[in-house]
Amino acid sequence: MLASITGNTKILGVIADPVSQARTPAMANRLLDERGRLGDFVMLPMQVSAEDFPAFITGLRALKNFGGAVVSMPHKAVAAHLADELTPNARLVGAVNVIRRNGDGRLIGTMLDGEGFVAGLAGAGYSVKDAHILLVGAGGAASAIAFALAKHGCASLCIQNRTPDRVSALSERVRHAYPQLEVTTAIHETSHYDIAINATSLGMKPNDELPIANPLIRHCDLVAECVIAPEMTPLLQEASGQGKVIHTGVPMLAAQMHLMLAFMGAE
Ligand SMILES: NC(=O)c1ccc[n+]([C@@H]2O[C@H](COP(=O)([O-])OP(=O)(O)OC[C@H]3O[C@@H](n4cnc5c(N)ncnc54)[C@H](OP(=O)(O)O)[C@@H]3O)[C@@H](O)[C@H]2O)c1
Repeated sequence: MLASITGNTKILGVIADPVSQARTPAMANRLLDERGRLGDFVMLPMQVSAEDFPAFITGLRALKNFGGAVVSMPHKAVAAHLADELTPNARLVGAVNVIRRNGDGRLIGTMLDGEGFVAGLAGAGYSVKDAHILLVGAGGAASAIAFALAKHGCASLCIQNRTPDRVSALSERVRHAYPQLEVTTAIHETSHYDIAINATSLGMKPNDELPIANPLIRHCDLVAECVIAPEMTPLLQEASGQGKVIHTGVPMLAAQMHLMLAFMGAE
């Protein structure tokens, strides 16, 4: 691989903090290799703190051989403010998970997490259409998923999050964009969910609490994760132990990989 990197190689990145758990560089470089494009492009991990992120973005405008980057935790919402232009979906969601550098140095942001989640689920044979869904989280991934679930015709959406203001703001924005959809923030004892989704970062660290309380898992048919490392989170282990259908975070990333590379001009 190193031999294929020349003075003409365009650098792609994954910007996150931490970044060591990211699977994106390995997956992207494998895809580029399969397509004979490794060397034209290479993807590298870029660990940047939230504090330094704005200055780093300014620097990327000056880096002429920078093609673009996948933007991950905790930068997605701020990236939407720092990009020079947003695609309609990134504007709707209010967050960015991929930026591209145009020839003139302008940075264009898009958001593919939601479509990636729905496509990953569809690839495993599950549809969100007409489903009653519990979504936990109100950050970048959760916001993107909420709008994608609404777009793909879920029957109802219950959103939960640690910080109440964030969940009220997200539900309000989804209701505004999809007035016919039932969006709630309250769980009733009798509630039943066809699909429950963890879109928080809970599960990444060994002692994290479960994002969905143990008794509530009983009210869900399928339990899906966004967390990708570890692949088998404590939530999925608990759900599997209760005999539920489980869906890991890997298909969500795999489903949007080629879309990410295409947006950065690498396909
Ligand atoms: N599989 C994939 O392709 C894929 C794609 C995107 C993201 N992800 C994963 O999805 C997760 C979320 O990513 P993101 O980009 O949405 O991050 P984010 O924008 O920083 O949002 C983090 C979310 O997690 C919640 N959270 C964090 N720590 C918590 C805690 N201790 N207790 C309760 N809630 C907590 C936050 O709640 P507050 O609002 O209260 O802070 C927020 O809802 C990460 O694990 C990320 O790796 C996976």
